[in-house]
Amino acid sequence: MSYTEMRSGYRQIGYFHHMQNFNQKVVWITGASGGIGEALAYAFAREGARLILTARHADKLNRVAVTCRKSGGQVLVVPLDVTDLTALEAAVVQVKTEMDQVDLLVLNAGQSQRSVALESPLSLDRALMELNFFSPVALTKFILPDMIRRDEGHIVAISSLAGKFGVPRRTAYCASKHAIQGFFEALNAEVARTRVKVTIVSPGRIQTEISLHALTKEGVEHGQMDKGQLEGMPADLCAAKILRAIKKDKKDVLIGRKELIMYFIHKWLPFLYYRLIPNIK
Ligand SMILES: NC(=O)c1ccc[n+]([C@@H]2O[C@H](COP(=O)([O-])OP(=O)(O)OC[C@H]3O[C@@H](n4cnc5c(N)ncnc54)[C@H](OP(=O)(O)O)[C@@H]3O)[C@@H](O)[C@H]2O)c1
Repeated sequence: MSYTEMRSGYRQIGYFHHMQNFNQKVVWITGASGGIGEALAYAFAREGARLILTARHADKLNRVAVTCRKSGGQVLVVPLDVTDLTALEAAVVQVKTEMDQVDLLVLNAGQSQRSVALESPLSLDRALMELNFFSPVALTKFILPDMIRRDEGHIVAISSLAGKFGVPRRTAYCASKHAIQGFFEALNAEVARTRVKVTIVSPGRIQTEISLHALTKEGVEHGQMDKGQLEGMPADLCAAKILRAIKKDKKDVLIGRKELIMYFIHKWLPFLYYRLIPNIK
């Protein structure tokens, strides 16, 4: 068998079917009003993608859209609370009407936690599961059938290092991100024989306002910038790495700096993980 024959065979089973660039691709990003989602919007806009930007704050989304349009890209701003499934379903109809199809779905909207389980009401666990787990699952279920019908598309789930092991003061957040890991890993297996792709991204510490917006036991925002976040990877670098991972059709990718060592400690030296993790802030 010649190399060309082999390559075409691999292409048929999707092996070489990587997205080479995002020019004119329709990319829907949730949580695009700040942090990683905002940085992703700029990175995709620079590559000529047609963007759909979603988050609750329309004013912030419009500001992001203005910058994206300067790169020449088409942008549709769809403000909503992703936990509102009625609004989400209406948005799906609007997106299909105005943009035809979604090539890339980036499930990024999310919120962290700063409170111990002992003091946290069950309502906090439910709220974080609704936002971080059920809303990306719901949006996936709205969009996936079209992708399967067209036999193309890419779903990118933004999980966390906290989806790989337990981190104190983040029990509900860890649970929601572990659930994301399980759901999208299993989904990846289900679509493996199609050309629909699934990528799970687990960032470590990225310089965003995530700790400011983290939920406390009182159900309000933490309002403090964590040292870990300040010293983390800049969001634009994280976004560039996410785009590269999508292009390479990575299934499961860690993005961060020295904090990623804990992933390997948890995996290979669990006794050390149990010794170190209680001290993590
Ligand atoms: N930064 C990190 O170190 C880090 C590490 C691991 C994983 N992550 C994950 O990366 C993702 C992005 O986080 P980030 O660091 O960029 O945090 P961020 O700066 O706080 O941004 C969160 C984004 O989610 C949106 N959002 C929150 N609740 C929403 C809701 N109910 N409906 C719609 N949009 C909502 C926010 O916009 P509105 O307020 O306008 O709604 C904002 O655009 C999250 O899934 C997070 O878990 C971050």
